[in-house]
Amino acid sequence: MCGIIGYIGKKQAAPVLLDGLKRLEYRGYDSAGISVIGENGSRKIFTLKATGKVAILEEKISKQNIIGNIGIAHTRWATHGKPCDKNCHPHLDCSGNISVVHNGIIENYRQLKNQLIKNGHHFSSETDSEIVAHLIEEFCKKMDFREAVLQSLKLLKGTYGLAILHKDHPAQMIVARLGSPLLLGVGKEEFIVASDACAIVQYTDKVVYLEDGEVALITSEGFEVMNIKNKQIEKKVSTLDWDMEQAQKNGLPHFMLKETFEQPESVKNAMRGRISKADGMARLGGLRDVEKKLKNINRIIIVSCGTSYYAGLVGEYMLEEYAGIPVEVEYASEFRYRKPILNRKTAVIAISQSGETADTLAAILEAKNKGALTLGIINTVGSTIARETEAGVYNHAGPEMGVASTKAFTSQLTILTLLTVFLGRQREMSLVTGQRILKELEKIPAQIETILKQGKEIKKIALKYKNYADFLYMGRKYNFPIAMEGALKIKEIAYVHCAGYPSGEMKHGPIALIDKNFPSLFVVPKDSVYEKNISGMQEIKARGGKIIAIATVGDKEIKKQANDVIFIPKTLEMLTPLLSVIPLQLLAYYVGVSKGYDVDKPRNLAKSVTVE
Ligand code: AGP
Ligand code: GLU
Repeated sequence: MCGIIGYIGKKQAAPVLLDGLKRLEYRGYDSAGISVIGENGSRKIFTLKATGKVAILEEKISKQNIIGNIGIAHTRWATHGKPCDKNCHPHLDCSGNISVVHNGIIENYRQLKNQLIKNGHHFSSETDSEIVAHLIEEFCKKMDFREAVLQSLKLLKGTYGLAILHKDHPAQMIVARLGSPLLLGVGKEEFIVASDACAIVQYTDKVVYLEDGEVALITSEGFEVMNIKNKQIEKKVSTLDWDMEQAQKNGLPHFMLKETFEQPESVKNAMRGRISKADGMARLGGLRDVEKKLKNINRIIIVSCGTSYYAGLVGEYMLEEYAGIPVEVEYASEFRYRKPILNRKTAVIAISQSGETADTLAAILEAKNKGALTLGIINTVGSTIARETEAGVYNHAGPEMGVASTKAFTSQLTILTLLTVFLGRQREMSLVTGQRILKELEKIPAQIETILKQGKEIKKIALKYKNYADFLYMGRKYNFPIAMEGALKIKEIAYVHCAGYPSGEMKHGPIALIDKNFPSLFVVPKDSVYEKNISGMQEIKARGGKIIAIATVGDKEIKKQANDVIFIPKTLEMLTPLLSVIPLQLLAYYVGVSKGYDVDKPRNLAKSVTVE
């Protein structure tokens, strides 16, 4: 999910690779590494790695005299194995003749690794990626380098962007793409491979975009593209009309928009390799060591902040309804000042994108002191909270650069759904219910796509309401937390005063605010509390209040109740938050942009609040 760069041409490779890594730094990473095939006699593959910033790697390189004009490099966003030197890419095979960098997740790496160990291979890292180098080594015993790569790719399940070198083929680089971007910059007798155009633009504006399932064999004279069945594919050379900054956002104006549009992929990555449809189970490897303890817990406390807190509120409804476990969701900043009654039968779950939020960390440490089982739902591998909790589940959402959380939030909801099935199936949840939830969950990425396609209509509604100074956002049950999250989004991105409420609370005070200058938004999917929401909307309408509704496709009634409607696809009630939040993210984004605000770095906010 992070950064790949490869070079083959007349220049010395190391400086080009280092420059490329620096241009990829914006994507967020935890470590970096480089491999160069030495020139002339040596033919050795020089490999250097460094945990932390690219500058540390640069320092190491400056102390070596790495000569060679073909190389690969990588910035890592760890998903399997903590950030440390041995887990940095590139990864080598046993002989040191093959070097591989990988973006993505190899879902079936465990079984492939076990097989390779049986065949005598020794591994030096905890990552999923390393198995690619050993697989190619194994196949190279029976076939040439190119065929060995193609045969290896056929065995991989999951996502990959790969760049591969072989010491005995010093004039060749092989790259492959499946679910993780890779493009080929076509220079004058040189080629730059990268996971992102921003690392290419300063060398050439001529690029070839690889598609999923394509493999390219590159030499300094040219390249050929094939599929994994070795069928040649004709590719056209496009011209990049992005500058570097635009390239970092895939040509979109802001990281927040890029990450909002990444949600079909990030939700897919959250469930990748974790769904076992046959037995209606969720496979959460990070909970393997505490499976028995989880079977015995009788209470869950979720501690988190901000958007992650609202994810926890959705989790509360899911876990109580489908896993039958009592759940409390606490503001982490408050939890530590309470006198919580905890014991080994209580699981305290921290939800945190950064894994560094001081309040959430303090809450977890308090829970550990009191003897509770502590778990994490964390996006940043190796982060402090991830290390302080006894076990947990990583989001695999990739780095989230926008200060306002978007893809991390829907990734958290996805993990909470998997956790609900995991715990539910340990208890009363039937196979059929587990299968039904997982089947509907797998449809969510495509359903998010259909909402994102309404961007233009949502923007129109945002511009229609952009000048109102106040809003009420309301929802019930699973969508009460979504009303709260939507209210937070428009506060932090567009600086609009917006109060989120459970719809049922409106008549206990907030409705006094309503008049024609105080619009409301109702999250009102066709669910078990739909009618209750409709009557709330009627009360608002009766007082001249304007209403935006987030409703289910096919709802004929809603247009009589609301001034503007944004439709979302039908899904299980418990999964509606994964869809209903998308329009609220976009509404906040378009209002903020229309006001000329920096939506990626809103005033007064930090991406990770590491102070209390
Ligand atoms: C969300 O848009 C905000 N950036 C903020 O509320 C954030 O969710 C909160 O600070 C928690 O951060 P964490 O998930 O990294 O712990
Ligand atoms: N899954 C691989 C790892 O954890 C690659 C992660 C990435 O895309 O940087 O090392």
